[in-house]
Amino acid sequence: MLLHIPNVLDPEQLASIRTSLDNATWTDGRETVGSQGASVKRNLQLPDASPLRVELGHVVLAALSRHPLYHAATLPLRTLPPRFNRYEGGGQYGFHVDGAVMALPGGGHMRTDISCTLFLAEPEEYDGGELIISDTYGEHEVKLPAGDAIIYPSSSLHRVTPVTRGARIAAFFWVQSLVRDDAQRRLLFELDASIQALNRTGADAQAVLQLTGVYHNLLRQWSEA
Ligand code: NI
Repeated sequence: MLLHIPNVLDPEQLASIRTSLDNATWTDGRETVGSQGASVKRNLQLPDASPLRVELGHVVLAALSRHPLYHAATLPLRTLPPRFNRYEGGGQYGFHVDGAVMALPGGGHMRTDISCTLFLAEPEEYDGGELIISDTYGEHEVKLPAGDAIIYPSSSLHRVTPVTRGARIAAFFWVQSLVRDDAQRRLLFELDASIQALNRTGADAQAVLQLTGVYHNLLRQWSEA
């Protein structure tokens, strides 16, 4: 499921993050990629060991955790701390698939089910830099306002087109979901949205309760925790 999550950051949070990143020291983005990605990746990242990366990562995850759409769509079990990247001067990332299993900072590993990109530069600030996601419906071109996020299945082929003017700045990270299967996750997301709409419009309480039970029992069937 490809989903646009609007207004993850408010203007003050965004301005504060941008000020920090505009004064940060960046490193070659190939530091954190396997050999398949390294041959097509041309961008900059905050170093993994950078305290600023850790600090801003917390801000991003805290904002997302308050966003009802994010939680309903991802059903997170494990989340890799966000990284921050910068594409400029023709920087790009050719077609690749994200690694299926990634090391967690505290030890252990997680499976990557969902990829997330949070845009931190306004579309007018740069040319190019579209995130192209290829799935069974074709190619989707994503370039969102600063503060908005996109989530998409980590199994999809994707790329970032060359940035020919300005700088594209973003946060990115991965989620292992309680529900591994993308189609099952989508059904739960749609069911949850329907239940909330029924609640808002004063539908029959007994029927809504029954549907809520169906939601939780499906989640019980499908979740891995
Ligand atoms: Ni990727």
